[in-house]
Amino acid sequence: MELADSKIAIIGLGYVGLPLAVEFGKHYPTLGFDINETRLKELRSGVDHTLEVSKEELAESKNLSFSSELTELEQCNVYIVTVPTPINEHRQPDLRPLVGASETIGRALKQGDVVIYESTVYPGATEEDCVPVLEKVSGLKYNEDFYCGYSPERINPGDKEHRVTTILKVTSGSTPDIADFVDALYKSIITAGTHKASSIRVAEAAKVIENTQRDVNIGLINELALIFNKLGIDTEEVLKAAGTKWNFLPFRPGLVGGHCIGVDPYYLTHKAQAIGYHPEIILAGRKLNDQMAAYAAEQLVKAMLKKRIQVDGSRVLILGLAFKENCPDIRNTKVVDIITELEDYGVGVDVFDPWVSKDEVMHEYGFELASSPPRGNYDGIILAVPHKQFVEQGAESLRAYGKNICVFYDLKSVFPVAMTDMRL
Ligand SMILES: NC(=O)c1ccc[n+]([C@@H]2O[C@H](COP(=O)([O-])OP(=O)(O)OC[C@H]3O[C@@H](n4cnc5c(N)ncnc54)[C@H](O)[C@@H]3O)[C@@H](O)[C@H]2O)c1
Repeated sequence: MELADSKIAIIGLGYVGLPLAVEFGKHYPTLGFDINETRLKELRSGVDHTLEVSKEELAESKNLSFSSELTELEQCNVYIVTVPTPINEHRQPDLRPLVGASETIGRALKQGDVVIYESTVYPGATEEDCVPVLEKVSGLKYNEDFYCGYSPERINPGDKEHRVTTILKVTSGSTPDIADFVDALYKSIITAGTHKASSIRVAEAAKVIENTQRDVNIGLINELALIFNKLGIDTEEVLKAAGTKWNFLPFRPGLVGGHCIGVDPYYLTHKAQAIGYHPEIILAGRKLNDQMAAYAAEQLVKAMLKKRIQVDGSRVLILGLAFKENCPDIRNTKVVDIITELEDYGVGVDVFDPWVSKDEVMHEYGFELASSPPRGNYDGIILAVPHKQFVEQGAESLRAYGKNICVFYDLKSVFPVAMTDMRL
């Protein structure tokens, strides 16, 4: 297929799919396809609630249209899949959205079409789990009638510097010609360039280890924080000192939430276990990172007790709910685990986050977000997510939400040690 003949469909218009659709829509006829009608309606009106794309950027994408209709999908010849790849309650990959999207594409697939997966998976998922669905539904043969590619996404929600076009992209294809086609397609929109991997499995593995490596490294730093807290040493000060060495890696302790770093390693461990290898380091990192919320709650309670604050019946304000700063994404936020832990201690918790949607919080987690927490009201304050509003407000002003005697816990070590009662 010639690049100029590409009619692109992006399947799944979330944090990953929408910015990609907007970029492709500047250069190629592009269909943004999603099963969520509310999302399509919002995008047609020029609004992106994920805040990744502005009204102006949406308007600049002249060749982009939105639909959930199969008849529209059938007009396309390149299908790019950006649907979620979550885990289930047993921490096993949940491939239902990926399989569902593959079934839909299978109904639209024609001779010569190319299907490119972007969702994060384990090595082998494209060819072992998705291709059979495409073949079965379409009745076409892989690498004879249609072809596949895998090009993992690296965007970082809320990051206005690293955007789709400025992040180097890994590409791959099911035959050498298709690998060239997929690479050229992305190169035509990505100014940072591409890296053509030698196979789809290599590209899949590369993506999943990016996040696994981060997870394990954060796990190590979290373990160091546990040790240093016992020793009465400030972890941030230690990291600052150690960081003066050229090859010391700049990881920081913290909660590991969201739908990527805390989830993707389970895709890799699932695949490893399926072939009879039982990973140790990866799962140790996961275990450590998953227990940090309970640890943070326990730390706060201990500090309150030291100040002779009655814990049962006390009130704590948590600043920030999103899984990371300056972003409205609340999926798999570990702040929720802190709330649960504190409530177990009999603490009443208010949560304030100017970035996230109150309705979404009620829908996902079933509690009411505070609108304007009263000052002088709390026995404990946790700065959990360093949104720019909180950082700009400053430590003094944040502490003023508390009573005269209260504990101010700077979980992300944003402020100098002397301005807070404790850090992670
Ligand atoms: N958000 C990130 O930071 C990020 C970064 C890199 C990679 N990824 C990976 O990209 C993938 C997508 O993540 P996301 O954050 O954009 O997800 P998301 O939840 O923001 O969006 C997914 C969209 O897909 C739609 N969808 C689900 N099933 C569908 C189907 N069968 N057909 C059509 N549409 C369907 C949903 O309605 C939703 O709009 C995941 O595999 C994720 O791991 C995400």
